[in-house]
Amino acid sequence: MKAADIRSTFLNFFAQRGHQIVASSPVIPGDDPTLLFTNAGMNQFKDVFLGFDKRPYSRATTSQKCIRAGGKHNDLENVGYTARHHTFFEMLGNFSFGDYFKRDAITFAWELLTVHFGLPKEKLWATVYAEDDEAYGIWKDVIGVPPERIVRIGDNKGGRYLSDNFWMMGDTGPCGPCSEIFYDHGPDVAGGPPGSPDEDGDRYIEIWNNVFMQYNRDASGTLHPLPKPSVDTGMGLERIAAVLQHVHSNYEIDLFQNLLRAAQTAVQQAGGALPDMDQPSLKVIADHIRACSFIVADGVIPGNAGRGYVLRRIVRRAIRHGYKLGARQPFFHTLVDALAQEMGQAYPELVQQRQRIRDILGQEEERFFQTLDKGIELLDGALAQVQPGQALDGELAFRLHDTYGFPLDLTADVCRERGLTVDEAAFDAAMARQREQARAAGKFKMAQGLSFDGAPTTFHGYTALEREGCRVLGLFVDGAAVTEAQPGDDVVVVLDHTPFYAESGGQVGDSGELRSASVRVTVDDTLKIKSDVWGHHGQLVEGPLRVGDVLIARVDAAQRARTMRHHSATHLMHKALRDVLGDHVQQKGSLVSPERTRFDFVHNAPVTAQQIRQIETLVNAQIIANAATQVREMAIEDAQKSGAMMLFGEKYGDSVRVLDIGDSRELCGGTHVARTGDIGFFTIVAESGVAAGVRRVEAVTGDLALAQVQATQQHLDEAAQLMRSTPSELGERLRASQEQFRALEKELAQLKSRLALSQMDSLLAQARAVGAARVLVAQVDGVDAATLKSMAAQLRDRLAGADTGAAVLLASTDAGKVQLAAGVSSALQGQIKAGELASHTAGLLGGKGGGKPDLAMAAGNDVAALPQVLAGLPAWLGQRCG
Ligand code: ALA
Repeated sequence: MKAADIRSTFLNFFAQRGHQIVASSPVIPGDDPTLLFTNAGMNQFKDVFLGFDKRPYSRATTSQKCIRAGGKHNDLENVGYTARHHTFFEMLGNFSFGDYFKRDAITFAWELLTVHFGLPKEKLWATVYAEDDEAYGIWKDVIGVPPERIVRIGDNKGGRYLSDNFWMMGDTGPCGPCSEIFYDHGPDVAGGPPGSPDEDGDRYIEIWNNVFMQYNRDASGTLHPLPKPSVDTGMGLERIAAVLQHVHSNYEIDLFQNLLRAAQTAVQQAGGALPDMDQPSLKVIADHIRACSFIVADGVIPGNAGRGYVLRRIVRRAIRHGYKLGARQPFFHTLVDALAQEMGQAYPELVQQRQRIRDILGQEEERFFQTLDKGIELLDGALAQVQPGQALDGELAFRLHDTYGFPLDLTADVCRERGLTVDEAAFDAAMARQREQARAAGKFKMAQGLSFDGAPTTFHGYTALEREGCRVLGLFVDGAAVTEAQPGDDVVVVLDHTPFYAESGGQVGDSGELRSASVRVTVDDTLKIKSDVWGHHGQLVEGPLRVGDVLIARVDAAQRARTMRHHSATHLMHKALRDVLGDHVQQKGSLVSPERTRFDFVHNAPVTAQQIRQIETLVNAQIIANAATQVREMAIEDAQKSGAMMLFGEKYGDSVRVLDIGDSRELCGGTHVARTGDIGFFTIVAESGVAAGVRRVEAVTGDLALAQVQATQQHLDEAAQLMRSTPSELGERLRASQEQFRALEKELAQLKSRLALSQMDSLLAQARAVGAARVLVAQVDGVDAATLKSMAAQLRDRLAGADTGAAVLLASTDAGKVQLAAGVSSALQGQIKAGELASHTAGLLGGKGGGKPDLAMAAGNDVAALPQVLAGLPAWLGQRCG
């Protein structure tokens, strides 16, 4: 069966069973900031699982393009080293949104594999989540898999399910226990069954994962039940193809053969010898051209951050492997043609964008080939000095990164080929140092205004968020002035007019977009180059961009609206802080961003919870009053006379902006809401100390404030529900239940002691004669230390006769500890003292202790050794007392 037939058989099988065939979503997830790349078929249905989105169908099936090269699921490092890891692969999946659950999912999977794909039943194994008796029962009783081929895996660590057989899309989002199906490639291949110590071998390969979606995991790790139990499955097309085509490695399936051959030719034409088809480097190239082409087709270009940097790393890793095979000029981009031919029918974007993908990868390749030679030379030289078992100097790895464009994983890949590692901590330290220097240098340059001598920027952002006809007056790439920039470049753009606010007065710079018919710059920050020259920092996505170009400048309105709400609320909060805490409150620093406002001020005690509520009440009263904001330009003297708040030590120009908002009046150059009501709602989220006599308050407004309150309410509701109470009665309920708990603890301890004491007679009967003495060694579990001690004393006295000595050693285990008590009667103390008996026993259990000659306590840790240690004691005592 060819890969294409497997794909269609899968989709049709589920279509015939009521599933809607849905197209693959792009590899760049739309609208999901928690995810770097699409990593599973279920991504596009995330909101359906969560109950936020509805579809006209409750069963779906897809063949999904997936990238696992960053984020939670990352296989980049394994590619080339194993027979079955990929940065790009196709995931076949079927999904139930509150429709069928475990039984049907397992039955469907079994029927497809054994009937339609004709796999021999005895070659299939199943795993289930350790506690999932239901799934286990279905495999055993409904499907009839013999128990020795059903493996329970996973361990619910403290209710958090961090282990195997519990699938999570990312750190947050839908998740649930799963049941995996394995194929046994037979005894010729090394490796053990799932869950065994050598499960990582290649003999037993996971082919299909059935996830029983039941929870939504939030950022704190808490699991919330989904509205309806659902099913999410995933089968790697390449893996099942390898099984059905009777080959061992994914790279031997039909889908890869043409690509590998094309890679062979491309490497040869670029100067290498004709490589063998099973060269690992050739596989890396064939794998990486798929990931890179699909990522570019879905809109990412190589760059220095985020997805662009992941793409750059994959391209460069592929090129390095080509270089290893002898390629000395660009070859990688030429493989796009072979890929489009192989996969273009299933994924038409490869055909439509063939030329564009070639161009973008080609440019990146040319760039890297300029430094690759020198970098490899440097690296080879350094590696020759590294002794086996040692790590490559992290500083050198950083130099390779910084000067020669070698991503860290590329350097690590070269090292790994020679059995070496990289000192990553030193690399990180060098990187952090450089960032710090760059930041300092960046600030310095801005303050000095070294780089731009043209006309100043006219700012329109108090009234407009968009402006046409903005001319590019200056352009910078890597800190140097240029007249033209290319797509992919990180740029700083100076315009003659702009609606973008540049960072100042604690308010962050705007983000947004500059564009024309042929140009698109995504602006992620705006900073001043000089006091009157704005620099728009971002990435050129479409271009080229030239000095003199005329653009439309568009501020990200949603972000700006949040920033404005936070800024206006900061003024109201400043006033409220003075009203509540006193006039000594003086601003020491502030940061106003779309995420929140942070305000530092002079005050020498923590702000109490009650004061915080008071401040919130005052600010929200101003918001409800919905007064209009007033802005006036005036001379600084007039502003002073007006009583406006100004910052001590701050430099102001001759003419200043005085802002009246609610009952506050401050000098301010920032952007603000038109009426206080636009702030919506205000709530304080944190209070802390930052330095002696300086406190910090953080707050959010508008939609963020609502989300904050709702999250708190939800946590409270959940806690109340758990306690079978209501939020308002929760405190009382918890107090009562704590009291009850303490009473029960006490009662339990008493019961345990009573129970232990009731055993006294039977314990006495266990005593035996050792020489002239009577000796008792026994384990009595569930007894606290005090009871154990008094038992030892009583038993000693009851065993001792007029001229018979007695020795008693009692042990009790609790929570991985052993508690010991020893008692020795006076007649025997010449031979052995209670303290010696206790410390000898504790020593054998990895602990210590001791005490008086007649009564002693000790503790040990080695619970497992206890039975043996106790068994040996009578003989030891015999030697001492004989
Ligand atoms: N989403 C599941 C996985 O990727 C099926 O394994």
